[in-house]
Amino acid sequence: MGAGNDTILLKVKKGELPSHLAIIMDGNGRWAARRKLLRVEGHKAGATAVDKIIQASIQIGIPVLSLYAFSTENWKRPETEVNALFELLNFYLKRKAKSLIKNGISLRVSGDISKLPLKSRKLLNETITNTSSLNKLILNLCINYGSRDELLIAVEKLIKKRIVLGDIKKISSLPEWNEIEENLYTNGLPDIDLLIRTAGEKRLSNFMLLQSAYAELYFTDIEWPDFGESELLKALIEYQRRTRKFGGLVEESKTGK
Ligand code: FPP
Repeated sequence: MGAGNDTILLKVKKGELPSHLAIIMDGNGRWAARRKLLRVEGHKAGATAVDKIIQASIQIGIPVLSLYAFSTENWKRPETEVNALFELLNFYLKRKAKSLIKNGISLRVSGDISKLPLKSRKLLNETITNTSSLNKLILNLCINYGSRDELLIAVEKLIKKRIVLGDIKKISSLPEWNEIEENLYTNGLPDIDLLIRTAGEKRLSNFMLLQSAYAELYFTDIEWPDFGESELLKALIEYQRRTRKFGGLVEESKTGK
């Protein structure tokens, strides 16, 4: 963390921190276009920003960080860009394997990775296995992720489990929320407290719609490659200023339940 941020860091650490921070990393393409670079250069710069935010999250003490790296809709992009994104992911996972372990980072994935190139699947699964016992930070990469797909898959899993149980009354009864929740990709993770989207767009784009039910939303014009620790601290200061009510009159609990 830069020296100029130290005082702000101390202030932020004294306040309430999000149990789960999620980021829609937007603006890599625009960042590159403004510099007359190829879009892939923007994604590379985005991967460097990922590193910085992981380090900052650990230093601040944020336990869970979800990053929207590839959506179910991103397949619509030109094949060259899609391939470049997965190559970048592979390069990143290979280069970072040791430092994830050294830093106590446990990797998780939210999304249907069965559709990913074999090499990416292999590297993701290896890294998930090698880091599963670590607990300094849970890094939840959202890849081929979309909230609507996630819900459909969760309902399918839930129905299958009910059929296996074979209880006819249970098969047709309304599920409890926790039954849905435990079949989402994010099973076991806390709800999102703070959701950041970079690069000026003010929408959620099918990202963690259920997990963000009570999240504080923070939008910034800063493009993702330029989003560093001082930008994160700014977002956290704004988060700590907000009053959270979870539908009640006073702050009740971090989970909104
Ligand atoms: C959105 O910017 C960004 C993405 C679709 C990809 C995010 C990928 C990275 C940050 C780098 C790789 C990540 C890892 C974990 C190695 P955009 O391309 O939609 O930007 P634009 O809206 O300006 O065109």
